[in-house]
Amino acid sequence: MLDCFNRKINYLRISVTDRCNFRCTYCMPEEGVKMLTHKEILSFDEIVEIVKYGVANGISKVRITGGEPLVRKGIVSLVEMIAKIDGIKDLSMTTNGALLPKYAEDLKQAGLQRVNISLDTLDADIFKKITRVGDLNIVLAGIEAAKKAGLEPIKLNCVIKKSSQEPDAQTVAKFAEDNGLFVRFIHEMNLETGEFSVVEGGEGGNCAICNRLRLTADGMLKPCLFSNDNYDIRELGIEKAFTLAINNKPKSGHTNTTGSFYNIGG
Ligand code: 5AD
Ligand code: SF4
Repeated sequence: MLDCFNRKINYLRISVTDRCNFRCTYCMPEEGVKMLTHKEILSFDEIVEIVKYGVANGISKVRITGGEPLVRKGIVSLVEMIAKIDGIKDLSMTTNGALLPKYAEDLKQAGLQRVNISLDTLDADIFKKITRVGDLNIVLAGIEAAKKAGLEPIKLNCVIKKSSQEPDAQTVAKFAEDNGLFVRFIHEMNLETGEFSVVEGGEGGNCAICNRLRLTADGMLKPCLFSNDNYDIRELGIEKAFTLAINNKPKSGHTNTTGSFYNIGG
């Protein structure tokens, strides 16, 4: 699928839930978040049908995100259902890592190829401040579990304030190097003001080569993270929503005032 600016759209990011077991300051308010209801959330069968359509029409790379994807009930079966779809060359997940000690092995068995794990610091107190409720040691155990299960290459998503030279970012870089992991530095973004920049070590944020579409947990197909544009699959049907999303993918992003990271999936 080519969009209007000749970009080949081959990457689908699927948010499977807007819920999360962390409350990172840059992602979610501490309380009072209105969560989607069970009825609003796409069922596994709906997700699989959408991915099948996408793969038949040029999608070859799929990433499962959230919220935190591992808090969705039955996530391992969903991964298995997606992994069985013929034509997906790269199946990955972005997770905060806290549930990887529990699920890494099963995810690998189910057909997940690799994970990106969020890690902004190696200081347990700072980690707690950023995530409000997270425990650094559990996430480190999650990284270890992912390694052991062979969910590789493992990439660490490290959110930075200003530069990858910040002390926390540097300790994460060193940790990655020592442990055979890769690190991507993501500038802290603000969707509403449209402050975004390229991901160091990744492909995100570079509009000219953007190959992605996003599916939200409630079935909206979004052509761009930095845009309010979305196409409701339940309302329009899969084919029409895909066609509209691709044909309306903007040349570059501007602002998003209707969504947040936790419900679009970063
Ligand atoms: N700016 C940049 N990255 C963010 N993430 C969540 N909120 C923001 C933000 N405001 C990142 C997380 C995670 C990925 C899914 O999105 O760190 O790694
Ligand atoms: Fe949860 Fe990830 Fe958002 Fe943190 S950044 S609150 S781990 S979804």
